[in-house]
This record gives sequence, C-alpha cells and structure tokens, in this order.
Amino acid sequence: MASFSTEFDPTLEGSLPPDFHWGFATAAAQIEGAWNRDGRGPSIWDTFCHSGGNIKDNTTVDDACMSYDLIEEDVARMKSYGINAYRFSLSWSRIIPLGGKDDPVNEAGIAYYSKLVDRLLENGITPFLTLYHWDLPESLYRRYGGMLNKARYTLDFMRYARVCFESFGDRVKYWITYNEPVLSARAGYAEGRHAPGHTSATEVWIVGHTEIVSHARVCAMYKQEFQPTQKGHIMITLSGDWCEPWDQDDPLDLEATKRAMDFDIGWFADPLYGKGECDYPASMRAQLGDRLPCFTAEEQRLIRGSSEFYGMNSYTSHFIKHRDGPPEENDAKGNIVRMDTNKDGKERGTESDTPWLRTAPWGWAKLLRWIWDRYQLPIYITENGTTAKGELGWRPNSNDDILEDPHRIDYYKSYVAEVAKASQEGIVIKSYLAWSLLDNFEWALGYTARFGVTWVDFEDPKRTRYTKRSALFLGEIFRHLIA
Ligand code: NOJ
Repeated sequence: MASFSTEFDPTLEGSLPPDFHWGFATAAAQIEGAWNRDGRGPSIWDTFCHSGGNIKDNTTVDDACMSYDLIEEDVARMKSYGINAYRFSLSWSRIIPLGGKDDPVNEAGIAYYSKLVDRLLENGITPFLTLYHWDLPESLYRRYGGMLNKARYTLDFMRYARVCFESFGDRVKYWITYNEPVLSARAGYAEGRHAPGHTSATEVWIVGHTEIVSHARVCAMYKQEFQPTQKGHIMITLSGDWCEPWDQDDPLDLEATKRAMDFDIGWFADPLYGKGECDYPASMRAQLGDRLPCFTAEEQRLIRGSSEFYGMNSYTSHFIKHRDGPPEENDAKGNIVRMDTNKDGKERGTESDTPWLRTAPWGWAKLLRWIWDRYQLPIYITENGTTAKGELGWRPNSNDDILEDPHRIDYYKSYVAEVAKASQEGIVIKSYLAWSLLDNFEWALGYTARFGVTWVDFEDPKRTRYTKRSALFLGEIFRHLIA
C-alpha cells in the first residue's frame, strides 16, 4: 500500500490538539434503506422519490446503502479507517412513525439507534447525532404543512428531541439540531428540487424562521433539563461557501458578494451568533421586505447563544456577479449569479464530477478565518468532501479491490492542510468530519454523485462496499496532524 504521509507538509505535524475529532458524516435518508420496515413511517423524501420525475436517475431511498442492515460491517469499516468520531442522523419517522407529540414511539427504531451508538462507543468512536437531516415525517406535512406551521411543528420537534435525549443522551454527548437549514428551506420550498418540491416566494422564509425558532427551543430544553446530568453539547450545522466578486472593481459585484454571503450564511448565523440585535441581515430585509418574518423579543432571547458551537459544512468557493434588474420572485440567493471564473479568467478550482463543486481550498481558508473573526466561536467542521470523475462507471475486479481516487486525495490534502494551518494561527477548530463514509443517495442527483471514501455497488443486492484510497489517506493525514 502506498504511503502518503511523507507527502504531507512536515511543518503541520502535531498541529491539531489530542482531543480533535476526525471521521465521517452520513444521513439517515441517504444510507439506511429499510424505508418501511420494523414500524418506520414514511418521510417527505420517500414520497418525493416515489412520485417520480424528481430524481435524476429516477431512483429512491427504499434500500439506499442498506446501512440499516449493515451496522456491524459499517462500524468495523470505520474502525479500520482509524476514525474517532462519526456523525449520523436519526430518521424521525423511524423513532416516531407519525411524527407528532401525541403519536406512539417505535421501540424498534430506538433499539436500532441504541445499538449503533453502543457499537460506536465499544470501538472508541464518538457519536455526533443530527436530529434533522431533511427527512420530515410525511404525516406532519400532510396534517398541517410541517414547518409551514411554526406553532404545531415546534411542539412536535421538541417532543421528538426529548425522546432522543431520553433514549440516547446517557451515551451521546454531541447533538446537532438541524443540518444545513438553508438548503432544506431553499431547495425544498423555493427551488422545488428537494422534498417537498415547492416553488414559493414566501414559504422558504417561513420555513427558515420555523427552523431557527424550533432549534432554539430544543436547545433551551436540552440545557435546562438534560445538560446538567448528561453533560453533552448542542449546536446547529450551517452550510456556506466562500464568495468573491467576479469584478473586484465593480461596486455592484462587491455588494452582490456580500448579499450572497448574507443569504447563504448570515440568514441563520447572524440571528444565532451575530453581534448587535438578534435579527436577519439588513440586505435580506431590503430585498424581501415583509416576506421575512420577525422574531418576538422572547424568541430573540432564546435564539442568541442557543448553539454552543459553530457547526460548519462547506465544499467549494464561488465568484459572484450581480444580476441586472429586480430579483426573480422566488429568488433565495440574493439576486446574484455564481461564476466559475473571475473577470480576469482565474478559475475558481479544479472540476469534480458535480458542476457546483470545485476544489477551491483558497476560499475555505478565508472562510474559516471569516467565521472565526465574525462569530467568535469554536468551529466543528461537520462536512467537507468531493465527488471525482470516473467513479460512476468503475467496477471492482475482486472483493478486496481498492479504487484509486487521486482527485479526492488532492481535495482532502489541500482542505485539511488549511484546517491545520488555521489551527496553528489560533482559530479553534474541534473536528473534521468528511462527507462521506459511503457513496450514497445524493438527493435530487440520486446515485449519480459519489461522495464516499467507500465505493458502494448499487447494482449488487447486498450493496457490497469497496475501499477507496482516500479513506486510508485520511487516516494517515490525521495520524500525522493530531498531537
Ligand atoms: C450537504 C448535505 O448535508 C449532504 O446531505 C449532502 O449529501 C452533501 N452536502 C453533498 O452535497
């Protein structure tokens, strides 16, 4: 086996603290399968896939990676990769099939996650649990519109969270309320490419508001009722990539770039972590007017400081150009255009197998600094990773075949190096969780975008897994970096 650690910058050796968490992230809908087994109720993603025409390769999450059945094998694989942390999400409708506060709990669902947590701990792997990674119980959506009804939804989300804290909180010390709330609101309610597939000019802002407020209420409940005895932590994970103007000298592009960051990150991060009054960014109010809800004084008090850390997902960087004329009605990005080059023809990064994603560590380094300076909280990197060309058509020759993925290795090498450098400069970074452990269901792209460090054979009814070289490489990097 090739050794990569010698290629890694020797000045970065030991630059990460001994308690640094490194590992992989996944999400229930993307890997579990078993969509209707052992009492599980449907989620909006089951319906979205089953209704046809929404997913690029017309696939579903019915079986996905079959991780529901392959716990032992997957945990053994994690152990062999040398990780010390694993982030996964709970399927709400596996735990409470109908989702609501008065609906019954599914003991089989609790037993499944309990076993997963136990296996991880037995193998020295710290679990990070995400409560909501986009798979709302279908029944809540049908009964009252799900997140469109803040009052009813919040009570149901709080009860679900309570069941999770009671069932797993004795062993789980890191909780994440929402994963990328911007994406689930924007893609699901304004752009229509994610479940439930709405294209509304107003709903996206209501859903975002519900996410922030319900997050804050769950954090308050955790801190009051569970933290004193369970001694865990709670945060939210936000998405967002670094943006730079297409034309540095054009004031309209400069403004558009600021708006892009406001709509992508500030929308959630400013109310949660900002200085001054707890509110949405001014540029959002200017564009959206009264479509953007207002926080009550009580909500403002709950929201500010609710998340103990900055949970960060980021993948790439963009050049931003302004759009002439007024924004489209359901625009949720700040009336901007994302460009692959800047005015001077500088490319934003090397291409992956997914158009939006290029290897652009220059922006990642700036983003880490920007978040640290602006919000001043320890950062947990909860996702980062890439697809690579040629993996869709790859076929293994034998059971222990390894897929060589130099593109992903370059990606990880450059991104992780920036984490180590930032850490040397005093930015407090507590984790690096790569996306993802396995190739999996990439939402609207189905199984056509492979983000894993493990290649999964989706044509094989057993979903046999094959190691990619990058999995072993990451282990070597972190052995080198963690003091
Ligand atoms: C962010 C999401 O959290 C995850 O579900 C998705 O698969 C990756 N990014 C890659 O797009």
